[in-house]
Amino acid sequence: MSRLALLGGPKAVRRPLPKWPVWDEDDKAALLGVLEGGKWWMYAYGEAELGSDSAARAERSQVEQFEEEFAAFHRVKRAIAVTSGSMALEICMRAIDLGPGDEVITTPYTFFATSSCIFNAGALPVYVDVDPKSYNLDATKIEEAITGRTKAILPVHFSGELCDIEAITDIASRHDLKVIEDAAQSHGVCLEGDRYAGSFGEAGIFSFQASKCLTCGEGGLILTNSDEFAERAWSLRHCGRTRDGLWYEHHRLGWNGRMTEFCGALLRTQLRKLPEQNARRMANVKYFCERLAEMDGLLPIELHPRGVRRSHYLVMLRYQPEAWGGLSRDRFVEALNAEGVPASAGYSFLNFENPVFRTIAPNSPIDYGACAERCPNAVRACRREAVWLVHQLFLGERSDVDMILDAIAKVKEHCRELL
Ligand SMILES: Cc1ncc(COP(=O)(O)O)c(C=O)c1O
Repeated sequence: MSRLALLGGPKAVRRPLPKWPVWDEDDKAALLGVLEGGKWWMYAYGEAELGSDSAARAERSQVEQFEEEFAAFHRVKRAIAVTSGSMALEICMRAIDLGPGDEVITTPYTFFATSSCIFNAGALPVYVDVDPKSYNLDATKIEEAITGRTKAILPVHFSGELCDIEAITDIASRHDLKVIEDAAQSHGVCLEGDRYAGSFGEAGIFSFQASKCLTCGEGGLILTNSDEFAERAWSLRHCGRTRDGLWYEHHRLGWNGRMTEFCGALLRTQLRKLPEQNARRMANVKYFCERLAEMDGLLPIELHPRGVRRSHYLVMLRYQPEAWGGLSRDRFVEALNAEGVPASAGYSFLNFENPVFRTIAPNSPIDYGACAERCPNAVRACRREAVWLVHQLFLGERSDVDMILDAIAKVKEHCRELL
C-alpha cells in the first residue's frame, strides 16, 4: 500500500464520504409551508386548539403533531418537544423536584449536559464507572453508590446503544428512585418486544441537535408514560403556566423551552426517513464490524444482546495499542484523519474532569477529585481507548465502508513508521 497520507502519501479516501444532514423536497415543502402559512410558533393556532382533538389536523400546530408522531413511534404515551436536549434534561430534573443535597447517579462518559442539569437543579451528580466493553453505565456498581440522599438515576444510552436499562430500572424500583433516561443519541433504538430507549423510566429525553440521527438543527424532547409528569413538564416548558391559567400567571419556575413550528414541521418529515436510515446504518455497521474482526486492534463496543433496532449514532471502537506496535490512540486518529476518515478520540474530558469542577469541587460535599480512581474504565475510554466514527459515514454505499476499512488497514500496515 502507498505511503501514509500523514507522511505525504495519497489519501486512502478518494471521494467524499456521506454528509449529514440529508434532506429532500418533502423537507423543503414542510419548511416553506410554515414560512408561507405565517404560523411560526405553537400558539399561533390559538390556545384553545392546543391539546384538543381538533378535527382540522392541517390547522394544528406542527410541534404538537410531531409530539404525537414521535411518541407513537416510540410506543410512549406523551411527548413534550423543547428547544434542546439540554433543556429537556433541565426540565426533567425540575419535574422530579430535585433540590439541594439530593444526589443523582450518572455516568461520567457523556456530554456535559447530563451533569450540568443536575447541578443546575441544586443537586449533585454521583459518578459510577462505565462497563469496559459497552462504555455504558455499569449497573452492577450502582447499588454501592446509593445513599440516603440519592433521588434518581440518570443513565445514558451512549452512542445510540441501549444501556443495561432493565437492570437499572429494577434497582431504581427496589430503592424507590426515579429513572430519567438520557436518550439524546438514541432515536428509534429498541429492544425485542418493541421497548424503545426513552420509554423505560419516568421519562426519557432526546436531542435533535445538528449531529443527531434525527435533527432540525437544534431541538429536544421529553417522552413519558406518566400524565402527571407530562403535565409538569408541559408547564415547565411553558414558563410555569397552567392549562387553565391566564397567560401572565406562573405557577412554577420554568423556562420558555417551546420548539418553533419550523423545527416541528422539519422533524415530522425527517422522522419518516429515520427507520430506513437506521436500517441502512445497521446493515453497513454489521458489515464494517465483520470486516474489522479480520484485523485485530480495533474492537467495536459490545452491543446490547437483545437490541433489535439501533441508530449507531456513533460507531464506537476500542483501540488496542499493542496491536499497533504501541502507537497511541491519538496518533492513530491523526493518521486516519489524514487518510480522509473523520474519526475522533471523542470527549476531551470525563464530565468530572472539566475545568468547571475547579470551582465546584472545593465547596462540594462530594470528593470529585477521587472520581477518576473510582472510574478506571471511563478514564481508559476517554484518555486512551475510544475511537468514534460518526453515523453518516454508514449512511452511504458498501463501497464507502470499504474505503474506511482500506484506510484503517493502510494505517495498520504502516503504523511503525509513526512511532
Ligand atoms: C448524551 C447527551 N445528552 C445530552 C445532550 C444535550 O443535547 P443538546 O445538544 O440538544 O442540548 C447531548 C448532545 O450532544 C448528548 O449527547
